[in-house]
Amino acid sequence: MDIDGLFARALGAASASYSPYSHFRVGAAILCADDSIVTGANVENRSFGLTTCAERNALVSAVGQGKHKFSMIAIATPDSDYPVSPCGACRQALSEFMGAETPVVFGHSLKDIVVTTIGQLFPYDALHELAK
Ligand code: THU
Repeated sequence: MDIDGLFARALGAASASYSPYSHFRVGAAILCADDSIVTGANVENRSFGLTTCAERNALVSAVGQGKHKFSMIAIATPDSDYPVSPCGACRQALSEFMGAETPVVFGHSLKDIVVTTIGQLFPYDALHELAK
């Protein structure tokens, strides 16, 4: 699965977004080490703090299926007119299971995507030492 293909899956996942408050759909697609793909969308709540981002929904879904190794994540925000990067909470959550070199792709359309890494989005992650 290449970058464009995974981004297309993220874009498709955004159609499942439940976002009646922000009207801002987000889709995420995670490429797992076994070559399977797990997707997620943002799910909002009328108690706004209970909203869960697309990235974390995809991540907990994958981990809940027993998958712990991931090769790439793509995030699509079709309602923005520029690439929107993962929020701070999602950067922390993704870094639990994705190494610093893991590619992260985000954008609003295939014509305008940013390709970066977990390490670029979440530097100085010294707490990984705790797992040793
Ligand atoms: N959102 C995500 O799903 N991922 C992000 O990284 C940023 C924000 C969602 C949360 C909320 O439903 C909507 O986008 C507006 O913030």
